[in-house]
Amino acid sequence: MRRRPHLIPWKAAGQLSERQTSGDDVVRTTGWVFNNETGDALDLEQFVATGDSEVPAYLTVFGLRSPDTDQQSLVEIGCGIGRMTCGFTREFGAVTACDLDAGFLERCHETVSRFGKVDRLRTSLVADGHTLDLAPNTSDVTFSYITLQHCDPGDALELTAEAVRVTKPGGKVALNYRSRSRLDVLLLPLGGLMRAIFGIPTFGPWLAQHRWAARLGWQANRLAPDEIIGPLTPLLTDIEIWRNPKSKIKGRGAEVKTFEGINRHHYWLVATVR
Ligand SMILES: C[S@@+](CC[C@H](N)C(=O)[O-])C[C@H]1O[C@@H](n2cnc3c(N)ncnc32)[C@H](O)[C@@H]1O
Repeated sequence: MRRRPHLIPWKAAGQLSERQTSGDDVVRTTGWVFNNETGDALDLEQFVATGDSEVPAYLTVFGLRSPDTDQQSLVEIGCGIGRMTCGFTREFGAVTACDLDAGFLERCHETVSRFGKVDRLRTSLVADGHTLDLAPNTSDVTFSYITLQHCDPGDALELTAEAVRVTKPGGKVALNYRSRSRLDVLLLPLGGLMRAIFGIPTFGPWLAQHRWAARLGWQANRLAPDEIIGPLTPLLTDIEIWRNPKSKIKGRGAEVKTFEGINRHHYWLVATVR
């Protein structure tokens, strides 16, 4: 069985979120794992508002909207406590929110009950961190934001293939990854060291609840577009790599497109499933 130190910070934050009495407290204690914001004045409403501004922007820029979006289905991989899921349920008729932590999924359901359309939501546990418990060819759009960069490289590739598997022919995937930067010379070894420490019983999960430690431990992979697209080429068409105009990243056989709203260290694979 694979060792799973990559999952520890998320499970630690998920357990912490389960112990909180309100969604506002969850945002104050674990919200930083989703949008990097901290502070006693934070609340769930502001947290969801950050997702509400991102969801329409990405749907529009990546061409994921159509006249019948409210009849369509979307799968979100790595939903957390529902920061973007609320926005998705206002757009799509059926949303499946997937995450590796059951506590986050419960909180996601609560968040969408307050700020989204909960009758359109179902949740799905990614128990092993790399398999979606969903039928093939069922989703119109499969989306993932700031999740695949935190996975073990093998898990990130398997989840990418899973995204394609669950998407209907003619449907779209929009998947976000982190690109290489000069800081990686330090960040990647420190991340590996931190994940090794996370594996120490009791101490590791305690340490993983701390922001600085979790942020280092997340530095998990820097997959290049070619590594991702390569094995999937026969299954995809209209392959696009979206990036910030200042980034230089590109992928073989992919059309490069730019959008100012994309983090300089991120890129997106947007493609149609054959
Ligand atoms: C940085 S958060 C982003 C959440 C959400 N996409 C957002 O933008 O607010 C990453 C989420 O991915 C989940 N996650 C990390 N690794 C995962 C994996 N291998 N499978 C499924 N979910 C995963 C974490 O539990 C966490 O909720």
